[in-house]
Amino acid sequence: MKGVVLAGGLGSRLHPLTKVTNKHLLPIYNEPMIYHPIRTLVQAGIRDIQLVTGGQHAGDFLRLLGNGEAFGLRQLNYAYQDGEGGIADALRLAEPFAEGSPLCVILGDNIIEKGIAGIVEAFRQQEEGAHIVLKEVPDPNRFGVPVFENGRIVRVEEKPAAPASNFAVIGIYFYDSTVFQRVSRLVPSGRNELEITDLNNSYLAEGKLSHSILDGWWTDAGTFESLRLASNLVAETAHKETAMKESPAESKQLA
Ligand code: DAU
Repeated sequence: MKGVVLAGGLGSRLHPLTKVTNKHLLPIYNEPMIYHPIRTLVQAGIRDIQLVTGGQHAGDFLRLLGNGEAFGLRQLNYAYQDGEGGIADALRLAEPFAEGSPLCVILGDNIIEKGIAGIVEAFRQQEEGAHIVLKEVPDPNRFGVPVFENGRIVRVEEKPAAPASNFAVIGIYFYDSTVFQRVSRLVPSGRNELEITDLNNSYLAEGKLSHSILDGWWTDAGTFESLRLASNLVAETAHKETAMKESPAESKQLA
C-alpha cells in the first residue's frame, strides 16, 4: 500500500498565520504540523509516500523534509497542486505515483494520538472498495458526517447544518485502484471544490465503503481553535509519555 499526504490549499482560515508560509509548516507544539501525518503513515508501515502541496511556499517542504530522512525514509515523492481545487483535486495528482496500488490518503492537518496499523492491515485484506475512519466529535457540522440507517452508513454529508450523527469522517481514507476513475467523474461543489465526500459517496452508492472507529484522540488543525487544541493535545501526550518513562508506577496511579 502506498501513502499520500495532501498538504495543498491556501489555509485561508488561518490568515494572517498563513500569509507567508504554508499551513502545514506551522508548529504543533514542538514540531511542524506536516511531521504528524507523515509519521502516522510511516509508523503504520507505509514507506512509499507522496506529498501533494501547492501555493507559494511549496519549496519550503523540500528544505524541511528532503528525502524524508527524519522518518527513516530513503525517498519522499512530491507533487504540486495549482490553485485550491479541493481535496479530491489534490488527490488526482497522485495518479502517476499510485501506479494502481491501493492507497492510504491522509490530510496534512489531521493529527491523531495513536496509530492506524490495525486499519491498514484490515484494508490490505479488503479486496476492493474504500474505507473511512470515524470519530465522535462535539462539532460534527465542521466535517463530513455519516448518516446511519439501521446501523449502516447510507450517505456522507459535507458540513451539514443539521448533522445526522455525532461522528466526523476523519481525514484518513483508504482507496482501491478505481479511485482515479471516480475522481475524474466528480463535479465541483457549491464552494467550487472537488469534494472527498463525493468520492466516498461514489463508493457508498455501490456498497463498497467500509468504516471503522478511531481509537484515541483526533483533531484537525485548520482553524485557530483546532490549531491550539492540536498543540495542547500533542504537548499533554508528550508530557504523559515522559512521566511514564521516568516513573512508570507513579504515572499509572495518577492516570
Ligand atoms: O479533517 C477532516 C475533514 O477534512 C473532513 O471531515 C471533511 O469531510 C473534509 O472535507 C475536510 O474538511 P475541511 O474543510 O476541514 O478541509 P480543508 O479545506 O481544511 O482541507 C483539509 C486538508 O486537505 C488541508 O490541510 C490540505 C488538503 N487540501 C485541501 C484543499 C482544499 C489540499 O491538499 N488541496 C486543496 O485544494
